[in-house]
Amino acid sequence: THIQIVPDSLALAGAGADWLAHRITRKPDLTILVATGQTPMGMYGHLAARVQAGTLDCSRVTAVQLDEYMGLEPDDPRSLRGWMERAFVFPLGIRNVVPLDDPATFTARLRDLGGLDVAVLGLGPNGHLGFNEPPSSPDAPTREVTLTPESLESNRGYWDGLAVPTQAITAGMDVILAAHETLLLVSGTHKQAILGAALDGPQTPDVPASFLRRTALTVLADREARP
Ligand code: F6R
Repeated sequence: THIQIVPDSLALAGAGADWLAHRITRKPDLTILVATGQTPMGMYGHLAARVQAGTLDCSRVTAVQLDEYMGLEPDDPRSLRGWMERAFVFPLGIRNVVPLDDPATFTARLRDLGGLDVAVLGLGPNGHLGFNEPPSSPDAPTREVTLTPESLESNRGYWDGLAVPTQAITAGMDVILAAHETLLLVSGTHKQAILGAALDGPQTPDVPASFLRRTALTVLADREARP
């Protein structure tokens, strides 16, 4: 595990963009699992600026959706596919997307692609990855899940006043842990304890992110999250 600590969330955005841009330059048809949530937004903004400036070409990249709520209309503001498109796919000029509609289709499409090159992840306040809530074992497949009260609470801040749906679908732990490389982005004091558990505690289904230590993992954290 490679742990890189940066001063603050601004530095995190730049360092994360460097990490991913380097890999896209080396392999222009990179297949990337894409987290939404707040933590990676600065990084995605940096990447978009590089595409605008003509210093980065993402036209052959494939973006793979990490998780989605169930029972939403396609144009619902809470759709995570919509969020991924607005924050990552459209601004980076990406043309290939693997949406997370149903587990069987998603799994087959990923298999056809030969799996993930890179996973870009945030860290849930309870150690979840995507919506793999505790407890999730390393072989947990892509599936429908019920969100925990903790995750509902932490996602509440995403959309003013709109409820967080309780049912969701997530890329499996098996998919995430099989990525050739993983970037875990962690920012803020409220993530400090769970990041400590994920990096320094036992590898356990009670902290799904702890299993990332089995992979080629880069943790990019700011000082608030990893003093
Ligand atoms: C988002 C996702 C979630 C978040 C996690 C951290 O697609 O899968 O697992 O990455 O909840 O969220 P933030 O970054 O908002 O703290």
